[in-house]
Amino acid sequence: MKIISVESYRKLSRLGANLIAAQVTVKPRSVLGLATGSSPVGIYRELIARYQAGELDFSETTTVNLDEYIGLAPDHPQSYRRFMQENLFDHINIDPAKTFVPNGLATDLDAECAAYDRRIVDLGGIDLQLLGIGVDGHIGFNEPADVFEKPTRAADLHPSTIAANARFFGRADDVPRRAVSMGMGAIMSARKILLIANGPAKKDIVERAFHGPITPRVPASILQLHPDVTVIFSEE
Ligand code: GLP
Repeated sequence: MKIISVESYRKLSRLGANLIAAQVTVKPRSVLGLATGSSPVGIYRELIARYQAGELDFSETTTVNLDEYIGLAPDHPQSYRRFMQENLFDHINIDPAKTFVPNGLATDLDAECAAYDRRIVDLGGIDLQLLGIGVDGHIGFNEPADVFEKPTRAADLHPSTIAANARFFGRADDVPRRAVSMGMGAIMSARKILLIANGPAKKDIVERAFHGPITPRVPASILQLHPDVTVIFSEE
């Protein structure tokens, strides 16, 4: 595991974008695992700028997102599908049919989750998975639990996650209580992982996740067992 500390969010974003750009350049047909939340926004901006400068081509790239709130339509202002459209997909030359976000409106959630895992396998697995980290150590919506949950599934949000994500919804009551989350199986099967953590609020959890014991109480700690993880942390 490589842990890189940088002094600014701008540097974090540039460095993160460098790794993703290198992946897409070396293997245009890459499968990128993508994340939402505030942390990746700067990386997405960088990637858009590089695409607009003619340095990057996403026409053969496929993306699979980590998660989606249950009950939010794709065009809901806080849905992760809409987040991805607005922050990345609408501004690059990716084929919309090659962008996958779990369907939070699926009537049969178990079938949706099983199909999501199958799709990742059928795509040949994820080449590079981008992750943020929650203050409780969650990745995707894999919250602290008694075991590491392997499959993609409908997950309950931890109260601290609901509180943290209330900033996007205006009030905690409006934050959905459940989400479809890619499981640890697909995440750990990714060939490379890039985790970004930004701001002083993440310092403690970065320390616990990557220098503490491996435990499902700190879900990101499982990444210590992955052979190719880069963590970029900025305290800004
Ligand atoms: C959400 C997402 C996570 C993300 C986390 C941290 O809960 N499901 O994938 O990593 O928020 O978000 P932020 O980067 O805004 O702190």
